[in-house]
Amino acid sequence: MSNTLPALPYPYDALEPYISQQIMTLHHTKHHQTYVNALNTAEEKYAQAATPKERIALQAALKFNGGGHINHSLFWKNLAPAHAKGGSGGVLKDGPLKAAIDKDFGGLDNLKKEFNAATLGIQGSGWGWLVRHAPHSSPAYILMTTALCRVSTRPPSASRSSPPRTRTRSSRTSPSSASTSGSTRSTCSI
Ligand SMILES: [Fe+2]
Repeated sequence: MSNTLPALPYPYDALEPYISQQIMTLHHTKHHQTYVNALNTAEEKYAQAATPKERIALQAALKFNGGGHINHSLFWKNLAPAHAKGGSGGVLKDGPLKAAIDKDFGGLDNLKKEFNAATLGIQGSGWGWLVRHAPHSSPAYILMTTALCRVSTRPPSASRSSPPRTRTRSSRTSPSSASTSGSTRSTCSI
């Protein structure tokens, strides 16, 4: 089945003055649409491929454009109009999420720094996700990118009381992110 561009959950001008109508329109109708079109093309070629070699050759296009489509679809849902415009954007309310960010990342500002450092060198302009960890685990949330599963400037003992079941793999950080974050580390539980 062909992939389609999802509608935005708000008007193109809803995020002004932080993101302009022009940028939102361009980003959604051109940028995201391009990923959708390229993914559909790759899937059609994959369906017609006659040999394993042909299918393997399409893996990069499927991964890159499929990831772009999925990431953008999630990204739109993570944005919201500002508080001043009647929306819920720009405010981190007191609650379990804020408490976990304070505990695991040392606050929202530090999370932003770690997020930016972790995603700086990732293909596709830096996709990363704050992911809910296993129930009742510590940390409650982990920072993931396609290269890293957890990034912290603090030693493991400072951010978790008992380590979850994990495996560690080498990180693919950019020089700038490594120098910014100091003791960058990665821990994967997938
Ligand atoms: Fe984009």
